[in-house]
Amino acid sequence: MTTLPDEKFFRTPVTDVRTWVPGKLFSLRVERQPGFDFTAGQFARLGLQDPATPEEAPTLWRAYSMVSGASDPYLEFYSVVVPEGQFSPRLAALQPGDMLCIDRTPFGFLTADRLHQNGDLWLIGTGTGLGPYLSILKEQSVWQAFDRIIVVHGVRHADELAYRDTLSNLADQAPWCDWGVAGNDRFLYLPIATREALPGMPQERLTTLIENGDLARLADSPLDPQRARVMLCGNPDMITQARKMLSERGFAPGRRGAQGNLAVENYW
Ligand SMILES: Cc1cc2nc3c(=O)[nH]c(=O)nc-3n(C[C@H](O)[C@H](O)[C@H](O)COP(=O)(O)OP(=O)(O)OC[C@H]3O[C@@H](n4cnc5c(N)ncnc54)[C@H](O)[C@@H]3O)c2cc1C
Ligand SMILES: NC(=O)c1ccc[n+]([C@@H]2O[C@H](COP(=O)([O-])OP(=O)(O)OC[C@H]3O[C@@H](n4cnc5c(N)ncnc54)[C@H](OP(=O)(O)O)[C@@H]3O)[C@@H](O)[C@H]2O)c1
Repeated sequence: MTTLPDEKFFRTPVTDVRTWVPGKLFSLRVERQPGFDFTAGQFARLGLQDPATPEEAPTLWRAYSMVSGASDPYLEFYSVVVPEGQFSPRLAALQPGDMLCIDRTPFGFLTADRLHQNGDLWLIGTGTGLGPYLSILKEQSVWQAFDRIIVVHGVRHADELAYRDTLSNLADQAPWCDWGVAGNDRFLYLPIATREALPGMPQERLTTLIENGDLARLADSPLDPQRARVMLCGNPDMITQARKMLSERGFAPGRRGAQGNLAVENYW
């Protein structure tokens, strides 16, 4: 890891690469620089240098949520490959030992402290929008604040249910079937695929499940603003639609330092 005091970013080596779906989904870990502190749910700006001019600052930067916990000794990111994208195919090509640049300042407001600190915490995400929730789930304070945590992960196909072992381990008090609901008194994991049937699960978009009440039925918990604190992350169209439905039920983000019951992060 190298850094110059006047640089707004640090360079750090990739230590691990994991392929979840070849050519589409991967995660990578890098060494964490002391002093890079963040709140679970925030994102970093990652930069890739031009291999022809490795001494120069990156000109290409993209936002990536931290998947690793705020106290983990490493940083982990979870990424899709957009085949025509400028950044993600190059990120996907990194191997252990290659260098990644990271802006020293973490960003973002998809953090649990923006929400009322009681009731049920719903972590609803599509695709790579699961990432920040994995970081949030590592926070002890979150488990202390909320009665129950419900993770809803919407993907196109079953193989895109990344980190499902991590999530099933959190739910290990409960019977666990290959793809279906897993849960215990404090935690529930709802994997939802839209382009493939998962045994026992609806094959529907998350917005449909919110609107028709099936999500609340699956969780056996009402999606009402008195009790539910909701995060939405991932596909911006999903977020626009879900946000509208939830607003009509009385959900609203916090304002001017006051906590709310809705927090959102668009990925593009
Ligand atoms: C706050 C924030 C946090 C983000 N965190 C992550 C993250 O943790 N992991 C991650 O993979 N991406 C994340 N993104 C998106 C990321 O910054 C890049 O846009 C993405 O990696 C693609 O970069 P690109 O240059 O290859 O393509 P871009 O030119 O940036 O994107 C091209 C198109 O690809 C699609 N697209 C972009 N990102 C995604 C995605 N994540 N899933 C599905 N389709 C997508 C959209 O249609 C977009 O218009 C985040 C974005 C924001 C704003
Ligand atoms: N490298 C490759 O081979 C490859 C292959 C495929 C995709 N990709 C890249 O990956 C990107 C897609 O990633 P992704 O599948 O994680 O993201 P996505 O298109 O956002 O889909 C994730 C989930 O969100 C759902 N969704 C989409 N729009 C919604 C809306 N308005 N309301 C509610 N739910 C909605 C999808 O349902 P639906 O199924 O109903 O849309 C799906 O279940 C593509 O843009 C492409 O760049 C790469």
